[in-house]
Amino acid sequence: MNIVGLQGSPSLGSRSGSLLHLAHSRLRDLATSQRSISLRDLPAEALMHAQFDHPLIRDALRAVQGADVVLVATPIYKAAYSGLLKTFLDLLPPDALRGKTVLPLATGGSIAHLLAIDYALKPVLSALGARDILDSVYATDAQIPKHPKLGHEPASELAERIDNALRTLVDRSPISA
Ligand SMILES: Cc1cc2nc3c(=O)[nH]c(=O)nc-3n(C[C@H](O)[C@H](O)[C@H](O)COP(=O)(O)O)c2cc1C
Repeated sequence: MNIVGLQGSPSLGSRSGSLLHLAHSRLRDLATSQRSISLRDLPAEALMHAQFDHPLIRDALRAVQGADVVLVATPIYKAAYSGLLKTFLDLLPPDALRGKTVLPLATGGSIAHLLAIDYALKPVLSALGARDILDSVYATDAQIPKHPKLGHEPASELAERIDNALRTLVDRSPISA
């Protein structure tokens, strides 16, 4: 299983990034390849100007298109997903997520915008052809405290929530048969 994660926070050492890292680690046994794409590291001008042909943008778009599973991680900004994530999703061709399994992951300051995944992110994933969208995992900042070395570290309960979200994917895998 080829697994690609999109890290949609503009912040270094981000909370949603640590959630993405955790999800990757829970999928290690199923993966034939795993890659995280930090969207903040893509060239900003190429993203803003929709330069599909920039080598780094092309490489990231290809990685998503070649994935079986796409993990989409974002902070909640102004009651929606990040603008950085949107600049990248806008560059994907129509139907780029068709046939793929997608796991939405988000972190927010509080639970106030828990539903942002459902009303903001999922319609975009759906417009990109995603039909197999796993239960999303939303964590508040309090659930992802600072860590002296790792930046942030998700509370242990989040591993369980991610495992639950991934259960159907794991059950479908030939490895678990
Ligand atoms: C510009 C900005 C807007 C934000 N808007 C919201 C919001 O509307 N709702 C919310 O719950 N948290 C909001 N937050 C808090 C972040 O979502 C939260 O701290 C998140 O965990 C940051 O994730 P990151 O470390 O991956 O960037 C906002 C933070 C910033 C910097």
